[in-house]
Amino acid sequence: MVERLQEASSQLKGRSVISLMEWTPTEIKKILSTAQWMKANPKVAEMRYALAGKSVAMIFELPSTRTRVSFHVGIEGLGASVVLLNWEDSQLGRGEPISDTARVLSRYVDGIVVRARRHDMVQDLKKWADVPVFNALTDRTHPFQALADALTLWEHAGHLGGLKFSYVGDGNNMAHSYMVVGAKLGMHVTIGTPKQFAPGPELVAWAQAEAAMTGGSVTLVEDPEQAVFGADAVAADVFVSMGDTVDEDTKKAMMAPYQVNAKLMKLAKPGAVFMHCLPAHRGEEVTAEVLEGPQSVVFDQAENRLYVQKSALYHCLAD
Ligand code: CP
Ligand code: NVA
Repeated sequence: MVERLQEASSQLKGRSVISLMEWTPTEIKKILSTAQWMKANPKVAEMRYALAGKSVAMIFELPSTRTRVSFHVGIEGLGASVVLLNWEDSQLGRGEPISDTARVLSRYVDGIVVRARRHDMVQDLKKWADVPVFNALTDRTHPFQALADALTLWEHAGHLGGLKFSYVGDGNNMAHSYMVVGAKLGMHVTIGTPKQFAPGPELVAWAQAEAAMTGGSVTLVEDPEQAVFGADAVAADVFVSMGDTVDEDTKKAMMAPYQVNAKLMKLAKPGAVFMHCLPAHRGEEVTAEVLEGPQSVVFDQAENRLYVQKSALYHCLAD
């Protein structure tokens, strides 16, 4: 029997992906299951025309390798065309308001992928755009990386609810995204950070309340060993993110105890996976031994960006 592409969800059509806080667990699981199906059935012809005749704009204010390429390939893989805008080459770089840009682009394209320094910029874009907006990373969240990482973990563990997911390092956009997705999917998320770099308290409170409804939990600790103890997955990210205005050397020195190395990994479950959204700094937040070691799934995570993004684009944009 020829596998058919499942119908795009009418509930998701026209929706944006901003932080996933606005998505229900069922909707998130739908994106993940379609992504898994797309990965398993790459040759289904229907998929190549699912967004035929449509265009998606991509705006990048910050550098990117994975996001830029995976969105580009994914959009074209669904039959739509891509318009790539580098911030500085567009009128945004000369100060044209986001409200005008959003309304103008909405007259030309069917969706907008955006990577921006400030989360409120993406929220503004969504407010003014008449087409779905896909957050490709802000200072606050990186929802598609969290979806790709959830898919990766699902592939490895066979389920997500009840897993212990530990992130150690800076309380940054990745920490936030893991709290959101973990809370939505009933996972036990532990975030290990120094107090001064802890995730935003409002988001922590939101995630804890959300997790209480899904059977998961969100816990903040300062001790990295306590954070990873008994974990099914240990995740790290750069100590200094793009656009972070701190003194890099000072912050890296303060974060050094949060490096994921072989000694720290031993405290997790024996079959635990190591995760990193990449790019990684070997010798800083993770040792080369762990990053390149048998527990590392970092390239599966990168690969899965393609499928979760194609899945979301399909459900949100297909007719
Ligand atoms: N993980 C990730 O978003 O990578 P890029 O910055 O290369 O897009
Ligand atoms: N926290 C990192 C993620 C990069 C994909 C950053 O924002 O730079």
